[in-house]
Parts: sequence; C-alpha cells; structure tokens
Amino acid sequence: SASAPVDLRNWIRDIPDFPKPGIQFKDITPLLGHAEAFRTSIDLLEAEFRHKGIEVIAAAEARGFIFGAPLAMKMNAGFVPIRKPGKLPYATIAQEYALEYGNDRLEVHSDALAPGRRVLLIDDVLATGGTMCACRDLVRSTGADLVACAFVIELSFLGGRSKLEPCEIFSLVTY
Ligand code: PRP
Ligand code: MG
Repeated sequence: SASAPVDLRNWIRDIPDFPKPGIQFKDITPLLGHAEAFRTSIDLLEAEFRHKGIEVIAAAEARGFIFGAPLAMKMNAGFVPIRKPGKLPYATIAQEYALEYGNDRLEVHSDALAPGRRVLLIDDVLATGGTMCACRDLVRSTGADLVACAFVIELSFLGGRSKLEPCEIFSLVTY
C-alpha cells in the first residue's frame, strides 16, 4: 500500500551533553533501527548521485561504513574503506587531521583508487569538516576524481561546508 515518505528528522535523536557538557549529539541509531528510515536514507543518496557516473564509494570508519557499504551495493559501485591507523594490511597512504585536542590520522590502501576513478565520499555527519577534509585529501592524492562529499546530517553551524568547498557537498538533513 502507498505510504507517506519517511521524514528522516523524525528518526534522528538529540542527546544533550554527550559526549560532554554543552554538546548536543545527533544520534542516528533510531534511524538505523527503523528499516524504512534506513532504506530511505540510502535511496535518497542513490537518487542524488545515480546519474553521476560513480564508480567507487569511499568512507571513513566507523559510522561512514554504515551508509557507505549499502550505498555502494545499491549504486553498483565498489567500496573503499578509509581507516584509523594501523588497521589496513597493505601499503597505505595517510592523512593527518586535527581533532579538538590533538591530531588523528586516516589511511587508505595505496592501490584502492587510481587516477580517473570517479569517487563519492560519504559520512554520517559533517561537523567541523576535519574528517571529510582528510578523506578528500586522501582521494586527491591518489589522482582519483572526487565527484562529491555526501552526508546524512550536516551541522551547518560548525562551518564544515566552507572547509570542503569548492567540492560539491550534499546533505540529507541540515541543522
Ligand atoms: C564522527 C562522525 C564523522 C565526524 C564528523 O566520527 O562519524 O565522521 O565525527 O566530525 P568532523 O566533521 O568534525 O570531523 P568519529 O571520529 O567520532 O568516529 P566514528 O565514526 O568512528 O564514530
Ligand atoms: Mg566518523
């Protein structure tokens, strides 16, 4: 039977003071746990990029994998994991990025992408943009063609978008 489209906002929960006082955390676990909401998020991302010749979906662990893998399957694209240090077994390239306190690093296999591959980067949340900027730099350093960066949630008040521009940015839900 026909049904109203799912409003993803109804399945994203605010958690005050997590992970520390003053931070309002956007919790996607209600969305993930609701079959129709989860499927809708993947369907909407696929609809946006279906005609853009995407060959590879790349995503950073951990939460990027949750959306990246099913989107790759639906788009008939490959999936490239971007991982925290020391997790990937083959030769890697690495990119440092700033956290609120200190630095972290993301890695990708050196042969996972190649010049000209059309790549879509995906993550659950765009906050400060540090994670996605590191992912973008990794993709670029392989010579691959970064088509866009896509997110389920964009926290616009944190200004991540301006760090990523002029890259194309697409978000399903913006706060
Ligand atoms: C969270 C989230 C994004 C990133 C967004 O990941 O999943 O990847 O932060 O923040 P930013 O735009 O300020 O970089 P986190 O590093 O907490 O790890 P997880 O995905 O493993 O939970
Ligand atoms: Mg993450």
